[in-house]
Amino acid sequence: MFNIENFDIKLDTDYIGRNFIYADEVTSTNTLLNDRQSGYNKNGTVALAEKQTNGRGRKDRVWYSAPDSNLTFSVLLLKDKLLFENINFLNFAASLSIASSIENLYQLKAHVKWPNDVLINSKKTSGILIESSSQGSKIERVVIGIGVNVNQNSFQGTFNYPPTSIRIEIGRNVERERLLAEILNTFEIQIDKIKTNKKEILDDWKSRCDMIGEKISIFEDDKEIFGIFEDIDENGFLLLKTKDKVEKIHYGDVSLG
Ligand code: BTN
Repeated sequence: MFNIENFDIKLDTDYIGRNFIYADEVTSTNTLLNDRQSGYNKNGTVALAEKQTNGRGRKDRVWYSAPDSNLTFSVLLLKDKLLFENINFLNFAASLSIASSIENLYQLKAHVKWPNDVLINSKKTSGILIESSSQGSKIERVVIGIGVNVNQNSFQGTFNYPPTSIRIEIGRNVERERLLAEILNTFEIQIDKIKTNKKEILDDWKSRCDMIGEKISIFEDDKEIFGIFEDIDENGFLLLKTKDKVEKIHYGDVSLG
């Protein structure tokens, strides 16, 4: 059971997580916060669920998470034009916050994988799904959905990238309240940085990405492209060096080799 009081003591933010919704079971925390009708309309609201019956990942995948063991939560951001023009940077800010929190609390080296996974020992421990809803052509709300494998013991099934949890990597259970507070504390600072110092976010993200310079393959729609991961451009897109040119990749699944 998640101890809200214990979490609250460790939360050191101005607005992220100050409105906190804790649920035993929801379809998806992203669906909950992305729906204006659900009544959650405060900037920075965080919804955490012990179980999602329809947890979703990128590309319409299912996000499986053992109930009561992990962190499955979403952060709601409202009407912030500058931030909403920088969704790629919200991805980077979120993955950096998760990676640095894991590293600070558990002394585990955490890497990032484009566009927004967090890896420990080359296995995926966290994924992010950003969704938005608009009125007319204006984005009204953005929901950053985060799944972190924290205390899950084992993983069954097939995954597009090998999964792990913090527990598996350090050999003991960790306190979810402390980890969530640390992630949100860091995330608020990173969000601010999107407005003041995007370059620093990009540099920090690149320094945590050990695939840059390596041979990679990218699955984009139904095709696979091979090349060298040359760089991330100033807008957050991946630059792939193929035989005769440098291609800008907007989305896709990256693997080594
Ligand atoms: C991915 O790696 O494909 C993204 C996974 C995102 C999972 C989180 S869990 C909380 C939030 N609610 C969802 O339904 N999905 C995100």
